[in-house]
Amino acid sequence: MRRKLVAGNWKMNGSLAANAALVAGIKQGLPADACDVAVCVPSPYLAQVQGEVAGSVVALGAQDISAHASGAYTGEVSAAMLQEFSCHYVIVGHSERRAYHGESDAAVAAKTVAALQAGLVPVVCIGETLAQREAGQTKEIVGGQLDVVLDALSGEDAARIVLAYEPVWAIGTGKTATPEMAQEVHAMLRARLGAKSAEAAAKVRILYGGSMKPDNAAQLLAMEDIDGGLIGGAALKATDFLVIVEAASGVVL
Ligand code: 13P
Repeated sequence: MRRKLVAGNWKMNGSLAANAALVAGIKQGLPADACDVAVCVPSPYLAQVQGEVAGSVVALGAQDISAHASGAYTGEVSAAMLQEFSCHYVIVGHSERRAYHGESDAAVAAKTVAALQAGLVPVVCIGETLAQREAGQTKEIVGGQLDVVLDALSGEDAARIVLAYEPVWAIGTGKTATPEMAQEVHAMLRARLGAKSAEAAAKVRILYGGSMKPDNAAQLLAMEDIDGGLIGGAALKATDFLVIVEAASGVVL
């Protein structure tokens, strides 16, 4: 059985005061038998949130990582730096980084390798645009994005990643994939993981991301191959985030 994971991606939001209130609210409202929970915060706040989540079940994550170990890479953050702040997860290949920073599949694969080598858990994001979905290319696009990453990994390492299917057209738009649409893609991704290694197919958690909210989380999370959520907007309000955590933790509301 895969443990469900609900991870908040705060994106470029927050302040010292807002972060403290948000994490306090999450910690206070967590159900007793919570699923795995993480918050992926902007780099300047890693030290702060490391302190805020210490001693709780909430894990810390970053939003990006450099493929390089150190050196002349202005603005980048290395795996070793993330480790110093007790990061457990790091998002790689988010569609916003692919779109606004030109990250290629190869760059995403290199970042995934850097994270795994440092013992971090990469949350590898893949997803199709609206034009690609309408052209019937969804499986080809997301399958291809996954394959480039898997080609860079051993079967054993492939089993250590978390995958996030985030259809670009659903991110921040209020449009969510239906549970059936998401399940279809997740099942296809699990089959691709299986072609790499049976262990990866069994173990890798495939999160759904894209306008997952309190009112649609339970239906999405009920699908066989949806092992959690990567939450943007709804992760910025403790009450909303907690409803999703409860849905993933099997709490009957
Ligand atoms: P929203 O939940 O705001 O649509 O964002 C999803 C996302 O991009 C998480 O990484």
